[in-house]
Amino acid sequence: MFTWRLLSVLLVSVLTQYKHIRGDAGSVLQILFKDFYAWRLADSPQFATYVGTYRFNDRLQSFNVSKMIERYNIADGFLFDLEQIDPAELCDSDVINYRIFKDVLTTYVKGFKWSRFGSLNPLNFLEGIHLDPVHDVEATPFFTRGDYENFIARLQDTPFQLSEYKDLYRTAITINRTSHNASVDRVPGQIERLLVDPEESAFYQPFTDILEELPIDDQVKLDLRDRARAAYQGVLQAFHDLKAFLEIEYFPNTRPKWGVGSLHYGLDYYKACLEWHLSTDMSPERVHQIGLQEVERIKGLMEKAMERQNFKGSVAEYFAMLKNDTSLHMETEEELLEAYQKIVNERVRPRLPEVFNNLPNLPVKVEPMPYDGPGGQYISGSEDGSRPGIFLVNLYRPKETGTYVMVPITLHESIPGHHLQASYALKASLPSFRRNTEFSRYYEVPFHFPFYTAYVEGWALYAESLGEELNFYEHDRELMGRYSLEMFRACRLVVDSGLHYYGWDREEAIQYMLNYTSFSRVEMTIEVDRYITWPGQACAYKIGEIKIKELRKRAEEALGELFDIREFHSVVLENGPMPLTILEEIVDHWILNYRPSKVEETCTDSAHAHHVSVLMALCLITLSLS
Ligand SMILES: *[C@@H]1O[C@H](CO)[C@@H](O)[C@H](O)[C@H]1NC(C)=O
Ligand SMILES: *[C@@H]1O[C@H](CO)[C@@H](O)[C@H](O)[C@H]1NC(C)=O
Ligand SMILES: *[C@@H]1O[C@H](CO)[C@@H](O)[C@H](O)[C@H]1NC(C)=O
Ligand SMILES: *[C@@H]1O[C@H](CO)[C@@H](O)[C@H](O)[C@H]1NC(C)=O
Ligand SMILES: *[C@@H]1O[C@H](CO)[C@@H](O)[C@H](O)[C@H]1NC(C)=O
Repeated sequence: MFTWRLLSVLLVSVLTQYKHIRGDAGSVLQILFKDFYAWRLADSPQFATYVGTYRFNDRLQSFNVSKMIERYNIADGFLFDLEQIDPAELCDSDVINYRIFKDVLTTYVKGFKWSRFGSLNPLNFLEGIHLDPVHDVEATPFFTRGDYENFIARLQDTPFQLSEYKDLYRTAITINRTSHNASVDRVPGQIERLLVDPEESAFYQPFTDILEELPIDDQVKLDLRDRARAAYQGVLQAFHDLKAFLEIEYFPNTRPKWGVGSLHYGLDYYKACLEWHLSTDMSPERVHQIGLQEVERIKGLMEKAMERQNFKGSVAEYFAMLKNDTSLHMETEEELLEAYQKIVNERVRPRLPEVFNNLPNLPVKVEPMPYDGPGGQYISGSEDGSRPGIFLVNLYRPKETGTYVMVPITLHESIPGHHLQASYALKASLPSFRRNTEFSRYYEVPFHFPFYTAYVEGWALYAESLGEELNFYEHDRELMGRYSLEMFRACRLVVDSGLHYYGWDREEAIQYMLNYTSFSRVEMTIEVDRYITWPGQACAYKIGEIKIKELRKRAEEALGELFDIREFHSVVLENGPMPLTILEEIVDHWILNYRPSKVEETCTDSAHAHHVSVLMALCLITLSLS
């Protein structure tokens, strides 16, 4: 494996020599995009596999600490090259791509300052190799003997990767920058689940039935299986060791404070995490304040809706009553699935043209979630529509799923939420680096390439609010379902900043969430542990939504009679995910230059083929978290 690593270093240095290409600004920019994306794939081989580039299928990412400096230097080199380009020479859509590329690189380069913080703690109960080998294996092709050889190489490299994790952890212990126990105490149990016989393991699964069907010599198959088993034994041993390491060395050294704004992490680290996730500059005080205001506002709306129903008790009592009401639940999985399909196709879809132009019309399918996850999830489809977007719905406990939350879940995950937003982005012909984002390793934030959660999740929450304008919530109970989900996102602003900035403890945070939402203690404990683990992440939803609403209001006021909601939505969606700061500039620019039904300039030199439409299963992991 060492030679492969070396080769990847060489590849990178070849790429960085590639600089100073001559040509017009637009072409130089395209070359930079291409080189950058090629480097990202080479540096993150499993990401490459997910997007359908199989050149690096025989290796895993390196977690050697020295790699961080190398990555920083390469990103800084790209930034230098980018700054040689004069954006005045670019056409409109390339200016946006240029600005976003600059933000991607700047965010990463700025994040390097924090590379020896969260990045030193590579596993937690929400993410990591110990959690979901299934998706990694499913994304890997097994069509040729070479595919199998590659996969064996990855298995053989896994113990080395786990030893690199241990090195990171040891550094974290030495410099007092470990995770809280709440982020990791479930990990040994999760590792335990991996320690099974090969036949039951996702890691070995490709060597069972599908290998049998491969048209190669039986002797070769035997040999592949032997080596896969041997490699798998090594993987088991390594996980075993890692588990022991965590229990014996790491747990006693986990950080004693719930939040990161303490000890050797510090408030600036939390600020940097917030800025990374929100893609805008906002202080923790402000986030907290907005949260408190939003909680009050939504509570007022809830109280009015409860009054209209002549309900006298508290919010918590109201939801306890709904949970008890059998008329608000479906009996069977089939009924529930059908009800979701009806909401998508009968209630929502026919109304979209009222508020959207140029609807991309890519199909979305409602399917049962194959595991017991959250209420709903979304997986993107392909740009030609051959693979539909998928709205996964949880049908595990129909009798416990309140019908009053189905509409907001649908609006969030499918249309006009994630599916519609992703469809506009797919149709927008974005450069590959914008089309394929690596949604993983949240623990590395802020030393991570951005994926613009505030835009993506802000839009989906905004979509829930559009349901009010379009009267999708048919009665007060459904409206209460909508408020409850919105309240949940508002509470996060209070609690996340509470934990990491104001020194709240976990129990205070759980109490706060329980006081205002319809969820159970078990659910809220997991939620709060999530905030403890990913500082700032859960704030992106509400802040993104508020920004989109604010921009809309600004446009409505500036344009008066001329304001057309459909055109506003086009401006927000047709440029793809981006930082809120750039979104704001784009909307302001649009307002300033507004002419009714203006014909947009098109970018002749950027009709590049962007055909990488294999959407990562990893998206699923992120978008799933609502
Ligand atoms: C990490 O990288 C450094 C510098 O390239 C190298 O000297 C060291 O041997 C590497 N560590 C491991 C465990 O491979
Ligand atoms: C880490 O914390 C311990 C206990 O609070 C302290 O003794 C030690 O000096 C700290 N180490 C560093 C590198 O700050
Ligand atoms: C962390 O959690 C583990 C597992 O629950 C427990 O055994 C250990 O005592 C905890 N350590 C600390 C420092 O709280
Ligand atoms: C739920 O229903 C049961 C039985 O009908 C009743 O005893 C209980 O008080 C109800 N709880 C609430 C919160 O309405
Ligand atoms: C719980 O909500 C009530 C109002 O419904 C409020 O007065 C109280 O302060 C809240 N408690 C907490 C811990 O936020």
